Amino acid sequence: MNIRLQLSGLLLLAVTYTNGQTLKKDIVKLDVLTQLEYCKVHTANSLAAIPNDGKSIPRSVPAGNKDWNYVDYKDWTSGFWPGQLWFIYETTNDKKWAVAADKYTQYLLPLTKTKAADHDLGFQVFNSFGVGYQLTGKKEYKEAVLRTADTLATLFNPKVGTLQSWPHNDYGGHNTIIDNMMNLEMLFWASKHGGDKKLYKIAVKHAETTMQNHFKPDYSAYHVVVYDSVTGKKIKAVTAQGYSDESMWARGQAWAIYGFTMVYRETGDRKFLDFAHKITRVYLDRLPADLIPYWDFNAPDIPAAPRDASAAAITASALLELATFTRDRTLKREYEEKAMKMITELTAHYQSRYANNALLMHSTGHKPANGEIDSSIIYADYYYLECLVRLEKLRWVKRFF
Ligand code: GLY
Repeated sequence: MNIRLQLSGLLLLAVTYTNGQTLKKDIVKLDVLTQLEYCKVHTANSLAAIPNDGKSIPRSVPAGNKDWNYVDYKDWTSGFWPGQLWFIYETTNDKKWAVAADKYTQYLLPLTKTKAADHDLGFQVFNSFGVGYQLTGKKEYKEAVLRTADTLATLFNPKVGTLQSWPHNDYGGHNTIIDNMMNLEMLFWASKHGGDKKLYKIAVKHAETTMQNHFKPDYSAYHVVVYDSVTGKKIKAVTAQGYSDESMWARGQAWAIYGFTMVYRETGDRKFLDFAHKITRVYLDRLPADLIPYWDFNAPDIPAAPRDASAAAITASALLELATFTRDRTLKREYEEKAMKMITELTAHYQSRYANNALLMHSTGHKPANGEIDSSIIYADYYYLECLVRLEKLRWVKRFF
């Protein structure tokens, strides 16, 4: 989510990789400002349609439907909508968007004052209050983030070395899911903005423990790892939302790529960067030609299996950042070009346009539970918009064509 992405003076010339694949010819021209305008119009339409009941927040639009399904602040996705509104404010500088973003950010206030229900506090509170603070400097937003970072830290088990993800879910121990890497950003931020310094240590320890226990020899991630909460020993690795325990669930790998890239940004520790390269490699090498993953890389019905546009958007955004940290010129170009190809593919073939008011279609939420399959989902929109905001900031797109 970081909005302080550094300019890296990217220059893209060669387009042929070692495997002989050439991407440039596949990339349609992407006009970032036109796409940001598209996002603004769709966001305005969504805003106008939300019931003004003090609680409804858009979450997803089922395939073939026009209207959002709404959730309240307790849902794990509640931070993405205010975050989307903050992004629109950032790119337009029009105060009316800050007013709207503030309204939905405030819906989440109870999360900043109660004990932790689960690890999703980072997704919820950092994408709303955190982004809002970085754009407005409002003291109460910062205080909300600092309070919530302390709350999130209560889920840390020092014996295990991770934050627990789902205290309510009985896997027979202390469970940690790969998605949890994303929530570390709030701990790092808090530790650097007046919060307790121990938050930094907790975030680093969580990342180290995850690096050690959450990956198969090919660097694909397990979804859930269960630890003995007393001895700290790993008990088992299973899936909740993937096809099987050993398969590569697309969004889980995307969270890992984004998460470890962010941890490198926050720590400067090269072991996290090296690891981010490894977990990115297995994802990129197994993608279909259009670079939009099937919901699980091992889904048995590929190519008929549903895609997951959300995983593509998360990964594209992560690659834009990972490229800025990559010294190897060939690898850097590969990341830049593949990120561009993912974003242009999402733009050309996954936008909702007249189907509904979301930004994108064709994401998969929870396939094993038959939930949100081939849907528009708010977190796909959030990371797609983040890609466009990052591209606009990097200002190298024009040089690409
Ligand atoms: N964090 C839950 C999901 O990615 O579906």
